[in-house]
Amino acid sequence: MLGAIEQLLKDEIGLNSQSVGLSVIRHALKERMTATGIGDLHEYWSVVTRSRSELQQLINAVIVPETWFFRDRDAFSGMTGYARAHITRRRPIRLLSLPCSTGEEAYTMAMAMFDAGYGADDFTIEARDISSRNLEQAQLALYGRNSFRGTDLAFRDRYFEPVEEGGYRPNAAVLGRVHFKLANLLDPPEAAELGGYDIVFCRNLLIYFDRPTQDRALDRLEQFLAPGGLLLVGPAESALPIARGFASARLPMAFAFVRAPKTQPVEPPRAVTPAAPPAKPVARPAAPMRPAPPKKPPAVSRPLQPKESPAPDPRAASLASIERAANGGRLAEAREAALAHLAQFGPSADAFYHLGLVQDADGHPAEAIQNYRKAIYLAPDHREALAQLALLLQRQGDGAGARALNSRLDRMANRSGS
Ligand SMILES: C[S@@+](CC[C@H](N)C(=O)[O-])C[C@H]1O[C@@H](n2cnc3c(N)ncnc32)[C@H](O)[C@@H]1O
Repeated sequence: MLGAIEQLLKDEIGLNSQSVGLSVIRHALKERMTATGIGDLHEYWSVVTRSRSELQQLINAVIVPETWFFRDRDAFSGMTGYARAHITRRRPIRLLSLPCSTGEEAYTMAMAMFDAGYGADDFTIEARDISSRNLEQAQLALYGRNSFRGTDLAFRDRYFEPVEEGGYRPNAAVLGRVHFKLANLLDPPEAAELGGYDIVFCRNLLIYFDRPTQDRALDRLEQFLAPGGLLLVGPAESALPIARGFASARLPMAFAFVRAPKTQPVEPPRAVTPAAPPAKPVARPAAPMRPAPPKKPPAVSRPLQPKESPAPDPRAASLASIERAANGGRLAEAREAALAHLAQFGPSADAFYHLGLVQDADGHPAEAIQNYRKAIYLAPDHREALAQLALLLQRQGDGAGARALNSRLDRMANRSGS
């Protein structure tokens, strides 16, 4: 009978009992049998298979709600950097947190967007989860110590109000950006949501699925994404989108992906490195990471799957290996690869940009700024370098510098019509 319950949970929510352990399922079962006053497993089975509300309660009892504010910070700076560089026309930008658990992730998305200079009218956040219990907590929005982890809690002063009975609640501006709804990732998206999101967070859920269910879930996630949309998964899940045809979005430690083109051979890594230091800035060919509108194959720049993207020359292969290391969060390796690239091939906008990203992630903002600036000197239209430098300057308190770069990005977007 326990096996039947396992199968029921797998069919309903994709839960792979091996990922959580049978003891979690036993514990949830015990909790529900006690709550319903049913002592016999067969009797409980006949109730749970007939009553949608009891099934929901069993799901609530079995899921893992673990989450906290700014969990994996780079995911949120990756989100805003990508939005700034690539989602330049659409307003409001549409963001999805699925699963949102008790709301911390979705509210963090709102805080990060405000921090990046977006206003309340510039974005909306939909948040979904299969647990009605979690959603009630999310809407109550009262958070204790467990939701605030790590040492950098300055965001709490900026965006939360202490509550008399204890705990903190996000301010009205943050609360107002997020809309919660019960949903199962494995169900088809509603028609209005198909292709509707510019950025989708699906973090720390795929790990609870078996392989076929992970593939199903990724196909669903793709349906939610607008052309050129960004998908962010958890660190332990970062190999899965690649295996399902996504390409890395090259945002270090963000575990972020875009849809790889299906129909055309993948463009090889683009080397913008001049053979020798340029006498004057070199115009960078426009290569937006955001895929083109439907019909045309999406113009994702430089996806990195080796099988689809055989490196055509040593310089391109070297750049690809820097990106792979950076995207995999192997900072020391990425730094070494970038330095080796510069030594072997001379100045390169992409190598400087990656060196900057690594230094930024590693807590060396001054060095990161220098390298972003070098990248922009070599390739004045390097959107990613401009966006990352803008974010870094903003974090450093140089609002004027950040605004200047953001206006430059806006002007570029207006020119290219993206
Ligand atoms: C570990 S939390 C992750 C929360 C957040 N994304 C994060 O990374 O901090 C996993 C959440 O997935 C939800 N969940 C489990 N199966 C689901 C499904 N099939 N569809 C939607 N949500 C699901 C659970 O209710 C739980 O809140």
